[in-house]
Amino acid sequence: MNKDNSRFCFGVLTMSDKGARGEREDTSGPFLQQLLTQQGYISKAYAIIPDQVDLIKEKLISWIDEEKIDLIVTTGGTGVAPTDVTPEAMREVIEKEIPGMGEAMRAASLKKTPNAVLSRGMAGIRGISLIINLPGSEKAARENIEVLLPCLAHALDKIQGGTSDCGS
Ligand code: MTE
Repeated sequence: MNKDNSRFCFGVLTMSDKGARGEREDTSGPFLQQLLTQQGYISKAYAIIPDQVDLIKEKLISWIDEEKIDLIVTTGGTGVAPTDVTPEAMREVIEKEIPGMGEAMRAASLKKTPNAVLSRGMAGIRGISLIINLPGSEKAARENIEVLLPCLAHALDKIQGGTSDCGS
């Protein structure tokens, strides 16, 4: 647990048609909530919504612009199935992409499974908030978020205008 991380609050947004209908238990969302809480970040919101661009956009924008959530981690909808639209919603919400985050997650994931190339998840900034897309299964979500945990607090600090030394 890093107490400095308590400066930042987070939300977890699960994209799943079945989950939103109550036909599939979401284990990835609660796992991510627990993991980020263990890291010292403050949990502020959690929701499961269907794979629909308008609903995803609405939720991301309201959590950032109204609720002032610093970090949103999404899980699901990053793949290539007809229903997967998380990246399409992201493109309409973010103002800057952070390509290195998606690249790093895919590079590390490729060592675990060739199917890693099927995740189109990205990370980006809206205002002074960061959004990170993870794949939907708990295993995939864990393997992807682990790659970013070491740089997360520094990224949030910089996004919010922090002037700490990048070399340290
Ligand atoms: N990345 C890791 N590290 N581990 C995985 O098991 N699964 C892949 C990929 N990325 C996987 C992974 C698979 S099978 C798919 S289809 C894509 O993530 C997209 O997942 P999503 O549609 O649930 O977002």
